[in-house]
Amino acid sequence: MPERLGTTLTKHIMEMQRRIPGASGDFSGLLNEIIIAGKVIYRAVNKAGLVDVLGRTGEVNVQGEEVQKMDEFADLTMYQKMDHTGYLCAMASEEVEDIIQIPDKHPQGGKYTLAFDPLDGSSNIDVNVSIGTIFSIHKKISKGPKGALEDFLQPGKKQICAGYIIYGSSTMLVYTTGLGVHGFTLDPSIGEFLLSHPNIKTPAQGSIYSINEGNSYKWDDRVTKLVNYFKTPDKESGRPYSGRYIGSLVADFHRNLLKGGIFMYPADAKTKAGKLRLLYEAAPLALICQEAGGASIADYEDILEVEPTELHQRVPLFIGSKNDVEKCRSFLKGEF
Ligand code: AHG
Ligand code: MN
Ligand code: MN
Repeated sequence: MPERLGTTLTKHIMEMQRRIPGASGDFSGLLNEIIIAGKVIYRAVNKAGLVDVLGRTGEVNVQGEEVQKMDEFADLTMYQKMDHTGYLCAMASEEVEDIIQIPDKHPQGGKYTLAFDPLDGSSNIDVNVSIGTIFSIHKKISKGPKGALEDFLQPGKKQICAGYIIYGSSTMLVYTTGLGVHGFTLDPSIGEFLLSHPNIKTPAQGSIYSINEGNSYKWDDRVTKLVNYFKTPDKESGRPYSGRYIGSLVADFHRNLLKGGIFMYPADAKTKAGKLRLLYEAAPLALICQEAGGASIADYEDILEVEPTELHQRVPLFIGSKNDVEKCRSFLKGEF
């Protein structure tokens, strides 16, 4: 007797589409292309140690960071899966300076934009630590068939979809379209993502704090006081929290989403606006977090309210359990 499969991601997307009157199916088609790209990247990531995909290309990306071969491979995979579909008016990638137009030879006038971090946690690629792909989808707002920068410079609250794929001990795709947060685990034996974490809700308060303490000499004193708060023993408020820092945003975020906790990447004396990028790291994770009952702030403004001014704009990021984020907000406002 064949085993019951459970809900595949493809089926889940169709069910979501049926809940949207008049849906054309373009959005579902776009999501399905992202799924295929994720499977192709998964396959490469899982063999990274075996083929010559490891190591550095020696090039430098727009962020001024060395581009690792897997970054390039993942970037190319996302691009090649998307450019001919007709669903997009343009794309934006962490690895590419300007917005990426759809070549004239492909169908034009797509209704959506796609911004992505093709591979997050690059520094962890060749030490076998979880890495991920993060994506964000907005509706096109500019006139004419081609995409424009303004289509990307929309606040995070306007995203119609946000998600990530985490390539870890198992490969998971987590996404939201505003109808809850749902997690799917890849079953490599059949090549399908199966619903494993329906309607994820993040605990209102956690017991984990994530921050790169190696940067503490550069923190302003509000951040120093805030981190010391989480480290100070106090039975009533469940402190001290445990320190956990993987160095891949997707992995640190995913752990805190499921277990509760706070991830912090503050601005500091060296990185005045913080290190993480708004459009394809902070904003998509902020939408997922909010949908799961959590919160996120850039210093003390909600990430989802930030009006972007540049494609690769960086923001300070405090994201996770609601109570823990509100604690951050009060310290950052100098209320302690
Ligand atoms: P990316 O690999 O896409 O450049 O992202 C790396 C980011 C993020 O994944 C992680 O949270 C952060 O860099 C770690 O930075 P530090 O090494 O400065 O702690
Ligand atoms: Mn990243
Ligand atoms: Mn990256």
